[in-house]
Amino acid sequence: MNIVHKPTFSLSSKKFIENPYPLYEELRAIAPVYWNESFLYPGWYVTGYEEALEILKNKKFQSRVPIQDASGRYKSLTNVQNNMLLFKNQPDHQRLRKLISDVFTPRMVESCRPSIEKTVEELLEEIKGRKEIDVAADFAFPLPSLIIAGILGVPEEEMYRFKQWSADLLQSADFTRSRRVLKKGEETMAEVSAFFTGLIEERQRQPRNDLISRLIKSQQQGSSLTDDELSATCILLTIAGHETTVNMINNSVFSLLQHPEQLKELKEDSSLIDSALEECLRFESPTQMVARTASEDCTINGGYTIKKGEQVYVLLGAANRDPKKFSRACQFNIKRKEAPHIAFGSGSHFCLGAPLARLEAKAAVKALIPYLPDRQPVITDIQWRRLTGFRALKKLSITLENGAADKEASCYKD
Ligand code: HEM
Repeated sequence: MNIVHKPTFSLSSKKFIENPYPLYEELRAIAPVYWNESFLYPGWYVTGYEEALEILKNKKFQSRVPIQDASGRYKSLTNVQNNMLLFKNQPDHQRLRKLISDVFTPRMVESCRPSIEKTVEELLEEIKGRKEIDVAADFAFPLPSLIIAGILGVPEEEMYRFKQWSADLLQSADFTRSRRVLKKGEETMAEVSAFFTGLIEERQRQPRNDLISRLIKSQQQGSSLTDDELSATCILLTIAGHETTVNMINNSVFSLLQHPEQLKELKEDSSLIDSALEECLRFESPTQMVARTASEDCTINGGYTIKKGEQVYVLLGAANRDPKKFSRACQFNIKRKEAPHIAFGSGSHFCLGAPLARLEAKAAVKALIPYLPDRQPVITDIQWRRLTGFRALKKLSITLENGAADKEASCYKD
């Protein structure tokens, strides 16, 4: 008898959103590169680490925009996405990546350190004396948003408008999107595009010391950056800046609170902070999925033949818990030394913002650690956002150590 293995729940159910890991294990147990036609998005679902790496590094697997819009109903969304670095392939990808890397440099990121530290201090000041905070709203969200606004040269007061815009745009690119969400995403993209067109015109007239002005300068000096690419780059950096690092901070705090004995160790030994944050990225990866399309027939790991045109969904959060790669993969271990996670992707699309994300998350989590009680229960309310491609908390309300009053003596104040 031919036994057909079918996973027992869907990729957008509440159960999956709250805890995707049992389904990932189920899929991997069937095959690390698993074909499913009955999911809403038919294609290959990759849960094995080596297989994920092989696909991400192989240029025959091409990046592509999330929406295949034959109807022309989502013109703003698809036009902008078509001009984003993230969805480009060679040779345009290499050309655009070089142009953006020339201005989004390690030096530029390092120059953000003082404003990151100042913002963290201000945020701490605001939570002092409080017994309870929502980590997501009070701490994780404001930092990356203010920093990316500063980098791009977007006025700070736009922050909360950008929060909603970024959330709408992310949702419209996710598996969970409905027609209504796509319609909203289309309206939002038109608004965001108009906003950046205005800002770009302003900077063309009066340049400042920000990333938009530097990209305009490169255009004026004859680079091949088109106006549409410039605008799409601003939008991509805005979404990345508002969404992913926020999730890294939230998820790190969440993971540490779930493991009070390791949080205690971290409080006692601040030199563990870097390995702890890498483990948080592995354990609760902010980006859970990236998509590719095979541009020709390919064989993966010597066994799986993926045909030209087929869709491939690389589940980063699953690959990062593959027991073939990580010992006790489902256990959180802030002292883990082995194997790099692929939370920032791999290959030619490797995250351009990884150094900035690490810098911001380290400053935020380090500062918050002394206030996190290393005993349970601490979490008073938790809500996950309904997203398949991202591990994103909407709310993480926690009680603080003795209220957050006047914490002075801390090994984290270095
Ligand atoms: C913890 C935070 C972050 C995570 C987990 C993350 C994750 C990722 C991943 C997985 C990719 C690869 C996508 C693919 O292969 O299709 C990527 C690409 C990218 N990320 Fe991030 N990201 C983070 C923060 C940021 C930040 C702060 C920025 C900039 C403000 C940024 C900008 C980008 C850009 C521009 C790309 C496209 C690179 C390319 O296609 O060449 N990211 N990110």
